Amino acid sequence: MPASSASAPGKAILFGEHAVVYGQAAIAVPVSQVKATAIVSPLIQGPPGAIQIEAPAIDLKASLNELTADDPIAAALTRTFAALNIEQPPAFKLKLSSTIPVAAGLGSGAAVSVAIIRAVSRFLGHPLPDETVSEIAFAVETLHHGTPSGIDNTVVTYNQPVYFIKDRELMPLAVGAPFTLVIADTGISSSTRAAVGDLRTAWQADPKSYDSLFAAVGAIANQARDAIEHGDVAALGPLMDANHGHLQAMHVSSPELDQLVEAARAAGAQGAKLSGGGRGGNMIALVEESNADTVAIALQSAGATNTIVSTVR
Ligand code: PMV
Repeated sequence: MPASSASAPGKAILFGEHAVVYGQAAIAVPVSQVKATAIVSPLIQGPPGAIQIEAPAIDLKASLNELTADDPIAAALTRTFAALNIEQPPAFKLKLSSTIPVAAGLGSGAAVSVAIIRAVSRFLGHPLPDETVSEIAFAVETLHHGTPSGIDNTVVTYNQPVYFIKDRELMPLAVGAPFTLVIADTGISSSTRAAVGDLRTAWQADPKSYDSLFAAVGAIANQARDAIEHGDVAALGPLMDANHGHLQAMHVSSPELDQLVEAARAAGAQGAKLSGGGRGGNMIALVEESNADTVAIALQSAGATNTIVSTVR
């Protein structure tokens, strides 16, 4: 069997993180400047079922049977075999690499899963359809996220902007006019599971207040969808600012994120907010393309450890 490979992009949530877990609408886009790659090559002399995994970035060199069943790489592999009804795959080596920062709100986990599922199913001669790829990536996310909404696996699998509501069919989002984002990393890794779990505890203690915050965020995501589809880029900045305010009220921002958001606005961004699970990780700023470098430099001066300029089309 010939070698095969697959890559999957990072993602940024433009509107609606956290509220999306409670059934509200959200919007996410792929970020193709960063990606995860899986390369599968045959192990000519290996016995059937022998699978070697190498991920130099996380110092991992192991065989599949040395990993626990809930390890995300092992789970992506075994669920791919199950979806293909393959009990004993031919021996192969899986090499993983990624330029997506881990635990930073850019969808690294979903991208690694999608790359593995695609590369392995192609190697085995039966490329899985997108729907199944996304389902398996969702099942893997569930292992380490707890209660994921499904937005990460969806945008990463389909590699296009999406308007997303939990448990609904894919709703691609037409972009009426391109717009540019600067994505900046606080350098602080943060567990989405912990942020989602703490928010759930707070919601259980005061459902009324949190439900109204979630509904307000859902309304923002719906307005943003209209604005994006109609090419009304000017409307998006204030919506991002308002969404960030609601995320602060949910206690999922952090001083470092707030500082970057302020720095972006001061440097001329039209709007800014945290993106993803929060408490660390990345923020996004909406900018004029001609001002992107200025905002990126301002963000670096304010402490960002990395910046990415990405145009959404
Ligand atoms: O931190 P990320 O990139 O995994 O984004 C999480 C988005 C949340 O809405 C907070 C959780 C979810 O499952 O949708």
